[in-house]
Amino acid sequence: MTPDLMEDGARRAAAAQAAPTPGATASGGRAAGFARPVLPGAVDTTHGRILYLDDVHVSFDGFRAINGLSMDIAPGELRCIIGPNGAGKTTMMDIITGKTRPDRGTVFFGSTIDLLRYREADIAQMGIGRKFQKPTVFENLTVFENLELALRTDRGVLPAMRLRLDSAQLDRLAEVLRTIHLAEAVHRQAGTLSHGQKQWLEIGMLLVQEPRLLLLDEPVAGMTDEETARTAELFLSLKGRHSLMVVEHDMHFIAEISEKVTVLHEGAVLAEGTLDAVQNDQRVIEVYLGR
Ligand SMILES: Nc1ncnc2c1ncn2[C@@H]1O[C@H](COP(=O)(O)OP(=O)(O)OP(=O)(O)O)[C@@H](O)[C@H]1O
Ligand SMILES: [Mg+2]
Repeated sequence: MTPDLMEDGARRAAAAQAAPTPGATASGGRAAGFARPVLPGAVDTTHGRILYLDDVHVSFDGFRAINGLSMDIAPGELRCIIGPNGAGKTTMMDIITGKTRPDRGTVFFGSTIDLLRYREADIAQMGIGRKFQKPTVFENLTVFENLELALRTDRGVLPAMRLRLDSAQLDRLAEVLRTIHLAEAVHRQAGTLSHGQKQWLEIGMLLVQEPRLLLLDEPVAGMTDEETARTAELFLSLKGRHSLMVVEHDMHFIAEISEKVTVLHEGAVLAEGTLDAVQNDQRVIEVYLGR
């Protein structure tokens, strides 16, 4: 970690602290608006759900991208989401992560956290990690430095200011390196990694932050068959400890990892069940698999 990066981190953290809370009123009260971030780990899953969406709608210029979407995910579950282009899969992730506000509907993290009351950065801090399709690692830094940076920019001011990682953090880093199959490549510059390795590194950068829920949008697109197979193993090793929502078009990959599959079509759930069940569902064959 260079001093420049550390200073940057400290500055960002201080600025975040000093920024006025949106919705705060002159009297110090709060207008209806965004809520304060919830402490990580405070998500209540005693009702058996880590994520709950009910009757969510969003339109873009009159086009109904999400149209009455309802679903829930259990703690530790690995849920696969499939469906044709434009079905609303990425938009659903945008809604969960606070990037897009729905016009109406309910989106809860656990049974108590109403995600629609939080901003994108707060939602990430609460333990919802998101992996976009394109890898976004820092190419000029090593694998280790990328993970270290992700650890330091995690949750609040203190980690960003501390000079050395403590032993628990180093242990976590080593564990993540093994999980993502990059222990041997720890000192390699990220720019020299293969596409698949970059994707794993980015997943590692999420994992060091110990997310409760991971949203992964087309994670194996562009990977070789071998990288895809290793990614399947990786995801299977993550479930239980984390909850995962995986959007993919690669049906071989889905077959390797799937328990329950949700099929989205025109912004709503068309079918849900085992891969076998949805593959034999006539409506799913018509709109997606049979094409
Ligand atoms: N910000 C936006 N403004 C306007 N239209 C949008 C916006 N975001 C998504 N859409 C539209 O909403 C629909 C759903 O898009 P979305 O990207 O969620 O589909 P998807 O299921 O992820 O598809 P794919 O499998 O191709 O990634 C598409 O018709 C898309 O063009
Ligand atoms: Mg998409």
